[in-house]
Amino acid sequence: MSELSVNHLLGIKYLNQKDIQLIFETADHFKEVINRPIKKVPSLRDITIANLFFENSTRTKLSFELAEKRLSADVLNFSSSQSSVKKGETLIDTVNNILSMKVDMVVMRHPNPGAGVFLSKHVKASIVNAGDGAHEHPTQALLDSYSIREKLGDVNGKKVVIVGDILHSRVALSNIYALQLQGAQVMVCGPKTLIPKYIDKLGVKVETNLTKALNWCDVANMLRVQNERMDISYFPSTREYTQQFGVNKKLLDSLDKEIVIMHPGPINRGVEITSDVADSKQSIILNQVQNGVAIRMAVIYLLASKIKQ
Ligand code: NCD
Repeated sequence: MSELSVNHLLGIKYLNQKDIQLIFETADHFKEVINRPIKKVPSLRDITIANLFFENSTRTKLSFELAEKRLSADVLNFSSSQSSVKKGETLIDTVNNILSMKVDMVVMRHPNPGAGVFLSKHVKASIVNAGDGAHEHPTQALLDSYSIREKLGDVNGKKVVIVGDILHSRVALSNIYALQLQGAQVMVCGPKTLIPKYIDKLGVKVETNLTKALNWCDVANMLRVQNERMDISYFPSTREYTQQFGVNKKLLDSLDKEIVIMHPGPINRGVEITSDVADSKQSIILNQVQNGVAIRMAVIYLLASKIKQ
């Protein structure tokens, strides 16, 4: 039987092409399951999963929780605003206390890059990174590629532009790794100040003109400006950002082909994307959310089968 090459999902950086293939094939099966009248399978009845969220989340937290429940796992939810972390407890102590209650897997979102890797070295549980600061967000990149595969038949050979705040985005980095592993061409587009200096080393194209970028691509993944990670101004005003890097219907209609529009959410309507684009038939934003549950079921199922061995 095929299995993942890793015991944790810490980042796309640690996966290989076969892992992604296996996750997608497993997600195909679970996507069929969640469209049945009875959306649940008993696969993980003997597994307990703790969702530890040290940072805000709506979609990702609900999506993981639903995925775990659809697999019949026991689920514990923890968010740092209500926890003893505020009383000075360390991350390792917090997690070890939770694990002593016989928890098998930890899904963690944390503001510090590398928090998942750190935890995986110090605690006995399978760790799933649900976003570590501006570093990686592997399940988001997996569900993004899975949604491209569903819409366009394959990721290999496709041209994908990631637009916006590349510098502060964990979605961007995980997407770059995932898309390249699958043979897609990747471009980033945004204000120069929001494109990291090391970008050349990642082997992606860089474009600061949105019209040119959209004319080049098959898929545009629009990112939110991560204001919460900025302590200085990276562009003159939101209005100017929108004028140069926001996608609107007029711009889309001026292209000579129909491109696919994606966004990881939460969207800021009227900033990086107008409502008529977000709600258009070119947008697969809600398909991404739906696919997120099947992808997370696949990841958790595959990691759990390694614990059980
Ligand atoms: C993203 C995140 O948290 O990194 N959202 C998500 O998980 N769907 C993107 C964002 O916050 O802009």
